[in-house]
Amino acid sequence: MSVPEEVMIDRGVAAQSRIDEIIAGRFACRDFSGAPVGRGTIEQILRVARFAPSGANIQPWRVYVLAGAAKERVSAALREAHETARDEHVSEYSYYASDLPEPYLQRRQAFGQLFYSSLGIAQTDTEARSAQTAKNYAFFGAPVGLIVTIDRRLQVGSWLDLGMFVQNVLLAAAGHGLQSCPQETFSRYHRILRPLLSIPAEQMVVCGISIGRARDETRGRLMPRADIAEFAAFAGFEDQCATEVEKDTAMGSREDLIQSSIPFLREVKDMTPGAEMERWLNETYGEDSQLYRHLARLIKRGVEEGWAANQEVDGPNYRRSRILEPTPDTFQFSITAVYMNSTDPRRFKDEDDHDVLRGQYHGHPYGELNLVVPLDKGAELKGLQGWQGPGWTAPDPGSRHYPEVRGGAVIALFYLPAGRISYDFAAPS
Ligand SMILES: Cc1cc2nc3c(=O)[nH]c(=O)nc-3n(C[C@H](O)[C@H](O)[C@H](O)COP(=O)(O)O)c2cc1C
Repeated sequence: MSVPEEVMIDRGVAAQSRIDEIIAGRFACRDFSGAPVGRGTIEQILRVARFAPSGANIQPWRVYVLAGAAKERVSAALREAHETARDEHVSEYSYYASDLPEPYLQRRQAFGQLFYSSLGIAQTDTEARSAQTAKNYAFFGAPVGLIVTIDRRLQVGSWLDLGMFVQNVLLAAAGHGLQSCPQETFSRYHRILRPLLSIPAEQMVVCGISIGRARDETRGRLMPRADIAEFAAFAGFEDQCATEVEKDTAMGSREDLIQSSIPFLREVKDMTPGAEMERWLNETYGEDSQLYRHLARLIKRGVEEGWAANQEVDGPNYRRSRILEPTPDTFQFSITAVYMNSTDPRRFKDEDDHDVLRGQYHGHPYGELNLVVPLDKGAELKGLQGWQGPGWTAPDPGSRHYPEVRGGAVIALFYLPAGRISYDFAAPS
């Protein structure tokens, strides 16, 4: 069996869940495409971000959301101030310690080197650096800019809460395929922002946030991170029972599979399985899509950890198990996995004389959505439209067939409307 494919998020570090991917996929984007982002999307991002925790639930955040002409007005005023009177403006709070101790000083220096060399700017070139700073005030070309404030009467603890809220905004944006950049540099121009945005006197400008689509999606994160050994100390884990820990890990990935399936099932719940839907699934959620990769990774893990396809139908090479019965949360789809390996025993030869594992004849009263995950290179599952490698099949309502696998081992993760599948039909003679 081949090694499960993982999404790499850093050198040698793999994402283990969708939230891992989102957190590690976010980066400070400083070049946006300018493609519009609607008010509804930003409202949804803020609606989700407000679930940030805060001490005693005081929710100290305040946000001014700018787009279009309102954003342009702010940008123009700040750019002018940056060009003509930058020394007259100072932030109302200190972001950095004036005397940075190690290792922070060295990290800040490394940031400067990486950042400016990635832009082709010499660190000594003050004019080019100033022009780069000016781009902050145009929200780096993003269609939406946020100005974040906090009540100045609150203490440092509330700033912790605010940080969590800001991070939630960035992550919720990433969940919509949007990138972002938090920007403390806006705090410097609070005297200009205050009248422009009618910010009350007790509110202090903390930062801005640019949100939009990255011009170059493939650019990704530039800044490295210190290893966990540099900032975390562990104690007491050796006392934990190994089998209990394994059980906990398995429960986590099964739940992740269910939760990750729900947005997909919401999207497809009113579609009808068949050739057309199969084409759509392969185009929209084919093997290179995030959804395919994520579900494939989880179901492979499920088979390895023994919580998926763990009941023998006919020996160890043909196993199946239902992961979840239909529930309102899954729009009444069930979730099942089957593992089939054609290498042994040899059950059947297909028209091209390949060894094929032929499974139980069955029918789909309401159709089926079936994610095909080959474990061996070249392994395939036979769908109604032909042999299918990594991707999807979507047998129509009322269809009946033998499941067949060739070329090695395949996991099929299938979603059944109302959980219906029948093994009671007589196979054609
Ligand atoms: C609160 C906060 C303020 C920041 N302010 C700015 C800023 O004013 N301008 C800017 O270009 N980047 C700013 N950044 C982005 C950081 O430089 C960036 O997060 C850091 O270098 C790590 O890179 P990454 O976010 O791409 O992983 C800020 C980040 C944070 C968290």
